[in-house]
Amino acid sequence: MNLTLRVWRQKNASAPGQFVTYNAAGISPDMSFLEMLDIVNEVLIKRGEEQIAFDHDCREGICGTCSLVINGTPHGPVRATTTCQLHMRSFKDGETITIEPWRAASFPVIKDLVVDRSAFDRIIQSGGYVSVSTGGAPDGNAIPIPKEDADKAFDAAACIGCGACVAACKNASAMLFVSAKISHLGLLPQGKVEETARVLNMVAKMDEEGFGNCTNTRSCEAACPKEISLDNIARMNRVYAKALFKSRLS
Ligand code: SF4
Ligand code: FES
Repeated sequence: MNLTLRVWRQKNASAPGQFVTYNAAGISPDMSFLEMLDIVNEVLIKRGEEQIAFDHDCREGICGTCSLVINGTPHGPVRATTTCQLHMRSFKDGETITIEPWRAASFPVIKDLVVDRSAFDRIIQSGGYVSVSTGGAPDGNAIPIPKEDADKAFDAAACIGCGACVAACKNASAMLFVSAKISHLGLLPQGKVEETARVLNMVAKMDEEGFGNCTNTRSCEAACPKEISLDNIARMNRVYAKALFKSRLS
């Protein structure tokens, strides 16, 4: 395959960025999207030009590091697929592909296609954990959990923290990400104990980091490579309202 790439190049957060056009020649349809970018970078290195910076780690769809907006869609055109699991057979020979970083004020560009997602780490640090003693694995296995709750918690735990939901949302809302953590922990007995403080602290941190609110356009859900359901946001809103009420009574 021969492709034309329009790639966002930006030296750092304060420098102005621009699209630069590259030719990607001799690309196999079986290559992943990131392997295609590796080939382009090898050509740039040979020419003595600066490589295109992009984030990646596991390349198996599990770490949440890859993060490209491809032809206007976070993680590209294939539903429930991370950028690293996207293959070139999903594109046509001769196609022009536009590649941009996640675009959100709370995710400033570090360089080219790499953005700073440490705001997500700070939200997790504000409450996305269980700090009470939960015992060992045998203790966990001894607690009966309703199947429906276990399934919902498991589905929410599939969130890989990639930030595609923020990039897809016109309000740059992080509510799908935060609500996935609230459900993942709060639906299990070990995480239930701290749920009130968790939801208050994580929502406050999310607002402080500058993420927007949810206006139910569902673009986050459509872009999410792990198909995290919008039901989690509805659940988080209920848990948050109860927590706020409790905190005002105490
Ligand atoms: S909710 Fe989905 S899109 Fe958002 S961070 Fe988690 S996995 Fe990524
Ligand atoms: S590189 Fe790990 S999910 Fe894509």
